[in-house]
Amino acid sequence: MIDRADTRRRFLAGIAFALALSGGITLLALAGYGTHAAVVTFALLAPLGVVTVLAAEWWARHRQRAGGLRRQFAVVALVAVLQFAAAVALFARLMFVSAHDAFFAALVVLYASAVAAWTARLLGREALSDVDAIRATLTAVGEGRRDARTGVIGRDELAALAADVDVMVERLAGEEEARATLIAAVSHDLRTPITSLRLLADAIDDDLVDGPTRREYAARMSTHVTALSALIDDLFELTRLQSGDLQWTMQQVRLDVLVCEAVEAMRPAAGTISVHVDTAAELHAAGNPEKLQRVLFNLIQNAIRHTPPDGTITVRAHAGPAAHEVEVEVADTGSGIPSDDRALVFEPFYRGNRARTDSGAGLGLAICTAIVAAHGGRIWLADADVGTSVRFALPLASA
Ligand SMILES: Nc1ncnc2c1ncn2[C@@H]1O[C@H](COP(=O)(O)OP(=O)(O)OP(=O)(O)O)[C@@H](O)[C@H]1O
Ligand SMILES: [Mg+2]
Repeated sequence: MIDRADTRRRFLAGIAFALALSGGITLLALAGYGTHAAVVTFALLAPLGVVTVLAAEWWARHRQRAGGLRRQFAVVALVAVLQFAAAVALFARLMFVSAHDAFFAALVVLYASAVAAWTARLLGREALSDVDAIRATLTAVGEGRRDARTGVIGRDELAALAADVDVMVERLAGEEEARATLIAAVSHDLRTPITSLRLLADAIDDDLVDGPTRREYAARMSTHVTALSALIDDLFELTRLQSGDLQWTMQQVRLDVLVCEAVEAMRPAAGTISVHVDTAAELHAAGNPEKLQRVLFNLIQNAIRHTPPDGTITVRAHAGPAAHEVEVEVADTGSGIPSDDRALVFEPFYRGNRARTDSGAGLGLAICTAIVAAHGGRIWLADADVGTSVRFALPLASA
């Protein structure tokens, strides 16, 4: 919405522009042909310029009345031609040009205007065909097609807009595919325990089982319910992280302390696996302690899951090779990750060999990735001779 003050300012700026321009040209006339020529030039150009600028300003504000862009451009061309013709006609009159010369001047104006209008139409047609292509693509996308592309090539603003539209459609297609995959994975992961729950409940309900078996079934049901609620919690957290809904406070955290706490908390679950900690003192990072704990728990839990009872897990935290980063590593001497899986393990619901990792939903590393990314960091699989080494780097906070 343009307010009144803004409108006035624009009108005044237009008038000032027209007057300054005619003043400049008057000076040239003055230098070349003296005072009379200068007065005539100014008397002729200034009103013409002011009227044209005001008409253009009015048109710019009411151009929607013309309808399509083609018509709007046509009106602009008409205004240009009219003021050109008016200037020539006024000059012919004020300079006492003979009827003969005035006639030829009018012919030249007519010819030049027609050629200019033709050229403008050509340019306009190209630009508007790009607009049509963008519009057709957006309509197709709105109707559900995801393979539509504008096909506009070039270096102007319309080409940039078309490129943005193409990128948007591609991203939309990718997101929709990822969402469909996610829904399929969630449905699958929900269906399996729910089927078991129904069978167990039916068995109990139908009085098919004796007392001890019933208790055993109830315990199994409880396990399924726990797994289900963990899955739903993880899924909820991942969705929130991925949608950028980050309602946590960032603070300066002592990463070395956090690592030691996480290891001590997980040590009982490691059983006979020996767990080592190796951290530099006083490692400060900007982050949310609970979320970073979550990352550490997930990584250590993975290491425990995939390491044999006589194996070793080492958690290291040091200043990274890049001076502004802290790097944390969770390394184990377990089964390692096959090269085919390495690119996929950070994807939601990706699980490696199911026989070994039956208890996980495949969300742990995806959640770690989202948390680390929300901290402005990155996570990756480092090369390891034995087992697996997962590393993540966070921006260092000044002490
Ligand atoms: N330390 C590791 N050693 C070997 N394989 C691993 C290790 N960490 C992860 N993986 C592989 O990566 C897969 C994905 O790990 P992720 O943590 O995302 O899921 P998960 O552990 O299977 O389930 P969740 O973490 O949701 O309980 C695992 O299924 C496993 O195949
Ligand atoms: Mg995991």
